[in-house]
Amino acid sequence: MKNQIGKGSGPKEKTLGLFDLSILGIGAIIGTGILVLTGIVASTDAGPGIVFSFLIAALASGLIGLCYSELTTSLPNSGSAFFYAWVSIGKFVAFLAGWTLIGVYITTTATVANGWTGYVQSFLEVLGINLPHQFLVNPAAGGYINLPAVLMIILMTIILTRGTSESKLVNNFLVGVKIFIIVLFIVVSVWDVKATNWHPFLPYGAKGIFTGASAVFFSFLGFDALATSAEDAKDVGHTIPRAIVLCLTVSTTLYILVSLVMTGVVRYTKLNVSEAMSYVLLSEGHNYVAEIVSLGAVLGIMAVVFAFIYAGSNILKSMSRSRFLPKGFAKLNAHTQSPNRAIWLIGLASAVFAGEFDLHYLALIANIGSLMVFMLISLIVIILRYKYPELERPFKVPFGNVIPTCSILVCLVLLVSISLKAWLTYLLWIVIGLIVYFAYSLRHADEFNFTEDK
Ligand code: ALA
Repeated sequence: MKNQIGKGSGPKEKTLGLFDLSILGIGAIIGTGILVLTGIVASTDAGPGIVFSFLIAALASGLIGLCYSELTTSLPNSGSAFFYAWVSIGKFVAFLAGWTLIGVYITTTATVANGWTGYVQSFLEVLGINLPHQFLVNPAAGGYINLPAVLMIILMTIILTRGTSESKLVNNFLVGVKIFIIVLFIVVSVWDVKATNWHPFLPYGAKGIFTGASAVFFSFLGFDALATSAEDAKDVGHTIPRAIVLCLTVSTTLYILVSLVMTGVVRYTKLNVSEAMSYVLLSEGHNYVAEIVSLGAVLGIMAVVFAFIYAGSNILKSMSRSRFLPKGFAKLNAHTQSPNRAIWLIGLASAVFAGEFDLHYLALIANIGSLMVFMLISLIVIILRYKYPELERPFKVPFGNVIPTCSILVCLVLLVSISLKAWLTYLLWIVIGLIVYFAYSLRHADEFNFTEDK
């Protein structure tokens, strides 16, 4: 069967090659996870053993990435898991997947922006500028609001609503900046490593490694952004899976080196700070380098926020277009062609969360939502193979259903390692979703139609 589904937007010029896709992926992947969470997770969950946490999270992302590749190359559509679930299972699961994804993009944006403040603060401090503490941290940490994070999200939202399409040049530059500061950190700090800091290597035991993996999984979120670009990719069957593997290899290598160096220079117990890289550099007197790293982090993290608000508004737009949510959210601005209402909704919700909640907690909620969606993605690969065996698949995950099954199992292992508090918050989000579904979507949402344009 020729694919008639998911290609509703008509023939489009395919512009993205392996390099562009990899840059796009790395742009969304590298951010607060490595720059902020590494120190916090090393100190509270895993110790220097965070290296193993990164390896487990990378393995999970690799398995999921392969499953994503099969779906996205067979059914290229920017609705991502929402669309795949709609095609393969039905309205209800599609709604839950889309609703979860909206929550994921909001909490991810909030986490990333929240972590950004630490680097702004550290950049300004070296220049002798101190912002009032109450306006830098959320109520749980003794402040009123994380104001820089709120303002930055609003700024990114405004830029997006002005129809600023992702500029390749700016994105390439920012990816370069992020890789540069991470390599700079490694090269400068490796000489300060004291092997005694690695003893004990696993202070929290095996349990700590898994709890750590379920937290640092956040650092890999973003590889799915590639999946939503399949409509614009050249030779999708080759480029998408390769780009995903390449992005994960580059990020995993950098993450492992950073965590080894970080925990080798400063004892893990002291790393519970949000600007860990700059803290480590300052502790050894590398003030100029700390300043460069902070500035690079400030610029680089903003690009991640931009990417996630954009992705969130795309899902909201897809769901509204199919009447799962009120159609108004799919409305495009006449001048800029951007879904401004959807962008504002995602932007404002993210700003509230970034301002008022704790970073570690937000990251865990984002991880639960993502892992639930990824588990569904892996399951859909299996379902679609039975339901539509003749569907044209430019890329097929090898070894039958072994990899999708392993992917489901790894997601489950990570899910059970996440704290109850984060789970309860996720469940609350789902309860709100159920109310929306039964009050609105059930009556309005379209059934999937294989020939209609979506
Ligand atoms: N992976 C992205 C980050 O770490 C979300 O910022």
